[in-house]
Amino acid sequence: MVLSVQPSSPEYVSSDGTVPPPQRGTFAKITRSVSASCRRLLTVISPDAATGGSPVPKAIGGNISSPFNGKAQGRAQPRFSELRKEIWKDSMRESWAEVLAALKDKAEQMESLGSKAIPRFHYDELQKGLSDEQIAEIREAGVVVVCGAVSKEEALGWKQSLQDYIAENRDRVICHPVTKPVFYELYNTKAQILARTHPGVVKTQKALMSFWHASDPNSEISLVQPISYFDRLRIREPGYHGWTLGPHIDGGGVERWVDPGYRSCYAPIFEGGDSWKQLDSYDVTPRLTANQDLYDSANQCTVFRAWQGWTSLSTTKAREGTLRVVPFLKLSTAYVMLRPFFKPKPGCEASLEADDWEPDLEHGEFHGTSPGRAQNLSVKSHPHLQLDKTVISIDFVEPGDQVYWHCDLIHAVEAEHTGAGDSSVLYIPATPLTVKNAQYLTKQRAHFEAGLPAP
Ligand SMILES: [Fe+2]
Repeated sequence: MVLSVQPSSPEYVSSDGTVPPPQRGTFAKITRSVSASCRRLLTVISPDAATGGSPVPKAIGGNISSPFNGKAQGRAQPRFSELRKEIWKDSMRESWAEVLAALKDKAEQMESLGSKAIPRFHYDELQKGLSDEQIAEIREAGVVVVCGAVSKEEALGWKQSLQDYIAENRDRVICHPVTKPVFYELYNTKAQILARTHPGVVKTQKALMSFWHASDPNSEISLVQPISYFDRLRIREPGYHGWTLGPHIDGGGVERWVDPGYRSCYAPIFEGGDSWKQLDSYDVTPRLTANQDLYDSANQCTVFRAWQGWTSLSTTKAREGTLRVVPFLKLSTAYVMLRPFFKPKPGCEASLEADDWEPDLEHGEFHGTSPGRAQNLSVKSHPHLQLDKTVISIDFVEPGDQVYWHCDLIHAVEAEHTGAGDSSVLYIPATPLTVKNAQYLTKQRAHFEAGLPAP
């Protein structure tokens, strides 16, 4: 059952239109809290929205490129320098050296493994239950391909209906880039709603969300209850498109350091020494207090998506405009979070050796990001990741196959599409029910009612 807010109903209803039965424990607590906060929030986001009027959304005019536009660097602010001094511990030097050594090994490993570094399972295996080793493999990589939950015929039918819809509404559909579209600002076509509520998709999401846990049992979250998050889609024809998504992490940029709640998700990394190894990327408890959008930026995702994801609508191989990932979650996270605290010693700019780098607490730069921007990564800004070796393309998917990647995972979209057919996906993340996420649903409903893109 997928919960969503329906335009005609003040309460949460399931995808089959029924109101869920009374729940016990945490879920019931969330439901009560949400019911009250939904009403409150509708008044807060727009006085008119509570009575059915149109809200004024922040994201109007934005598109998928909005968080990535403009210069991500060179916007250092003095308070960020102070913040870095507050966070800094001398023992982070040891962490830095350990992480850099581990990254060297990982780059070699990725070069030899290639796409084998990305776990791949059939939906039937997932339903029967994966072994502890298989689950550990997925958790370590932070990404998984799940094949066969949706039939090829059904997925191709969804694509055809989308192509028909786009053709019929050519003058009204917003796309990016405008000259040769890849991403479409469509959120609630019939195909998207059918895909989001497909039993195979929902069951896959439930299985993957069960890999998370709450360190605080009183955390207000349901990891068995995916919500219906309205996301967009990609239909990419072969050839060069002029703009694509380079390596990045979604869900905010400097917020990971600046916001105390968000920073608490990475607390072991800042404890110094080898504590970074204790990082638990799958603990939802600190995520519940994280603010991913401190700067109210256009098209910045404010929802906690345990797994970002898409469902393929095409047969697509590597180099055909598909997703690329850096499939070692904990290590890449530790490096990204430590990176702003170090700089190369003078004359050592090209060196990757830990001894050639030193603490840097005087500048306010958070490499690859700035307020209101996403977290970008490049060979220049994050050299030790060796992105030329460690960014791995999803090798092969067929229509109906799904790919999910952890919300902290570095990912990109291939710059080239050398194939013969379209490379197409519906973005459908695995999004758990939390109070904040449910509050987002009220905004999503208001936008839906107003005929606007999702907030
Ligand atoms: Fe992304």
